[in-house]
Amino acid sequence: MAPIETPVFAPGIFKGRVFLVTGAGRGIGKLLAERLAALGGQVAVCDIVAERAEETAKAIAAAGGSVAAMAADVSREADVKRMVDEVVARFGRIDVLVNTAGSYGAAYRATHETPVEEWDNVFASNVRGSFLCAKAVLPHMIAGGGGRIINFASNAGRSVSPLLGCSYTAAKTAVIGMTRHLSREYAKHGVLVNTIAPGPVAGERVAELLDGPQDSAALNAQIPIGRLASSADIVDVVLFMASDASRYMTGAILDVSGGLILA
Ligand SMILES: NC(=O)c1ccc[n+]([C@@H]2O[C@H](COP(=O)([O-])OP(=O)(O)OC[C@H]3O[C@@H](n4cnc5c(N)ncnc54)[C@H](O)[C@@H]3O)[C@@H](O)[C@H]2O)c1
Repeated sequence: MAPIETPVFAPGIFKGRVFLVTGAGRGIGKLLAERLAALGGQVAVCDIVAERAEETAKAIAAAGGSVAAMAADVSREADVKRMVDEVVARFGRIDVLVNTAGSYGAAYRATHETPVEEWDNVFASNVRGSFLCAKAVLPHMIAGGGGRIINFASNAGRSVSPLLGCSYTAAKTAVIGMTRHLSREYAKHGVLVNTIAPGPVAGERVAELLDGPQDSAALNAQIPIGRLASSADIVDVVLFMASDASRYMTGAILDVSGGLILA
């Protein structure tokens, strides 16, 4: 099938919308923040590594986008409160929260050899962090007449991680449960809550985890489409989830895994 020449997302579709993207200092979150800004959104970019958040913000500002860098650890309530206050002070509102931030443990580590610190850390960033950010933005969204929360699960949360350990599989499953709960609870306020469940994505994270080309070929072989996702493959679906085109969708878990996960 020949690619369509016209852009899928019309220029300016996010004009007047304020986004908070966590974990935007690298990988999927970074590209997402750049695309949201390029489409007219005002974007607060958060990362636990301050320099990463600043780098993303610099790139967006250089391209003419409206952006603010936020250094925050999403697992710390004080950081999250300060960040959300700053976003509201700067942009006046928050329309869309994207909970991209999340850490991971070692590849191929047996559960009985997993340090409890890994378990706590993976849960803190993925589960507690998504909860704390939702908790902090919800009052603003309710007051503003609605909003969107987009969570990041994973193929791991839909089945079992082929790469990472039990902590990651369990944490991403919890993110799916939180999505379902929040969607039911806040639909009456016009807040739509969905999650994307990407399959393995080519990028720094997977490169850090895979041990050479043999590992990489074995992972590709499990994916019916025959390759890892690109960050853009994932970001395009998040743009749809953030757009008005998804206005009737809440509580959904979108598998974007090249056929790895069949619902
Ligand atoms: N890469 C994949 O193969 C893949 C597959 C499925 C799901 N996901 C999910 O997609 C999301 C993005 O993945 P990625 O590959 O771009 O990740 P990444 O590791 O490249 O980037 C994640 C960013 O989040 C930041 N971060 C980590 N903990 C944080 C915290 N407590 N507070 C604030 N920031 C924090 C990191 O500093 C980093 O810059 C994650 O939730 C991940 O679990 C990724």
